[in-house]
Amino acid sequence: MGFSKISLSLFFFILFSSSYATSRTILHQKFQSTTKVSPNNRAEKLIRSFNLFPKEPVNIIHSNHSLNFVPGKIVENKFSFFGDSDEPSVANLGHHAGYYSLPRSNSARMFYFFFESRNKNKDAPVVIWLTGGPGCSSEIALFFENGPFTIADDLSLKWNDYGWDKASNIIFVDQPIGTGFSSSSDDSDIPHDETGVSNDLYDFLQAFFKQHSEYVKNDFYITGESYAGHYVPALASRVHQGNKDNKGIKINLKGFAIGNGLTNPAVQYPAYTKFAVENKLITKEDEADINKSVPGCVAAAKTCESQGGDSCLTALNQCEEIMNSVLSIAGNINYYDIRKQCVGPLCYDFSNVEKLLNKKSVKDALGVGDIEFVSCSKVVYNNMLQDWMNNFEVGIPSLLEDGIDVLIYAGEFDFICNWIGNWDWVHAMQWSGQKQFAASKSVQFSVDGTKAGLLNSYGPLSFLKVFGAGHMVPKDQPKAALQMLVNWTQGKLNGTSI
Ligand SMILES: *[C@@H]1O[C@H](CO)[C@@H](O)[C@H](O)[C@H]1NC(C)=O
Ligand SMILES: *[C@@H]1O[C@H](CO)[C@@H](O)[C@H](O)[C@H]1NC(C)=O
Ligand SMILES: *[C@@H]1O[C@H](CO)[C@@H](O)[C@H](O)[C@H]1NC(C)=O
Ligand SMILES: *[C@@H]1O[C@H](CO)[C@@H](O)[C@H](O)[C@H]1NC(C)=O
Repeated sequence: MGFSKISLSLFFFILFSSSYATSRTILHQKFQSTTKVSPNNRAEKLIRSFNLFPKEPVNIIHSNHSLNFVPGKIVENKFSFFGDSDEPSVANLGHHAGYYSLPRSNSARMFYFFFESRNKNKDAPVVIWLTGGPGCSSEIALFFENGPFTIADDLSLKWNDYGWDKASNIIFVDQPIGTGFSSSSDDSDIPHDETGVSNDLYDFLQAFFKQHSEYVKNDFYITGESYAGHYVPALASRVHQGNKDNKGIKINLKGFAIGNGLTNPAVQYPAYTKFAVENKLITKEDEADINKSVPGCVAAAKTCESQGGDSCLTALNQCEEIMNSVLSIAGNINYYDIRKQCVGPLCYDFSNVEKLLNKKSVKDALGVGDIEFVSCSKVVYNNMLQDWMNNFEVGIPSLLEDGIDVLIYAGEFDFICNWIGNWDWVHAMQWSGQKQFAASKSVQFSVDGTKAGLLNSYGPLSFLKVFGAGHMVPKDQPKAALQMLVNWTQGKLNGTSI
């Protein structure tokens, strides 16, 4: 099964399927012309629409480079983005950058940042953040969403008043291997499914907590966005299993949160039309037309779930028809935030993260050597194609039953991983609290007296629709996002009745 029209965008790549173009219905003929763009052009165009220009398609270094691969070893150093001259001093910040040599790989080294709590609260929870893509660096979130700093135009850094390091000790990892500064000399080290992804991350966490043993007792939370709707529940299950097996260090997993994620594709793809009608992107008539693609998508997704392999590519192809049909009617919207249009070729400008992290002085401070920073990797993305349509809701009920907290949140204006699709899978999930959760009243999530969202919860499960936000909630509503993290990790995310 070939993908003749592959396009990609920042956190969530869109595929223009080949079957779509050859489809025979009137509807599809109607939209065919708008999607006929060669794959490479499309990819380039979309990467540039986010103003990212990774020099390499993946961080694989084929020469005998100074990879310093020592299986199982962590090499970490303290650094300061502010240099030696500025206060606060390096030692006070508790900012670390490091490499971990993955023991199950040929030569893969996973890069991470670790920021200790800004308030010096050693008891604050430990949080790991995973950006999606698949194949986009978590540093994009670090600098544009929930990290300690934002980047000014002159590439200087400013404190982010709502960085999640204000309420946690937070880790940002570049993964899967090949992404960001995480590199290898061997293509086979790039994972192609969540087993590979979660094993690598689990091994990393073991080494991390060995290195920072003072944090082993702290509460631990797994968080992420977009394609991390796959990574996060897979990693949570992996950690929980490791704990049950009494293997290695017991990781004090308390919960996991997914923001605008893709978790259960068979439920989320059909929701595109509902969301589009509700937001007047398409008409009822369009919806009825596009709905004809839904049964085929759902059946193909189910086949993928049971058979795997190439059937998952078929499913992806088929389900993308739904999304593409909507987008071809909706026009030049920014599908991460339907309130916005892209201006010329530009939808977001994340270029400063590439400029900053490719500066020699910064690379020296971080100890990454002279490798390129790969903001988003097309190769990593391609490697994960068969993983895309799998359903990662399936592991969540047993985690809920074991008392692991689950927070699914979604910015209301995101189209690509929209809140309706997320609402639908969360409600369809079978667990002992399903009925009570469905019966739960929506309550107001207020931040400093401002209505910031709607919350539903029962027992360990919470669903939060965030107002005034697109795909990247902490970017659009930083204060609300931090408040959400604070309340949730303290077991106080309960809202007030409307
Ligand atoms: C890389 O190093 C290995 C062993 O250190 C050696 O066998 C190999 O020939 C080297 N390859 C290149 C391209 O220099
Ligand atoms: C389209 O399908 C959805 C279910 O996926 C349904 O709720 C909706 O009513 C359908 N719309 C039309 C116009 O047929
Ligand atoms: C957050 O927690 C505080 C108590 O610490 C509580 O007063 C407030 O209502 C909570 N807010 C939400 C939205 O849950
Ligand atoms: C939310 O939790 C706070 C702190 O535990 C409590 O004071 C408040 O009454 C709770 N609100 C609701 C609506 O349950």
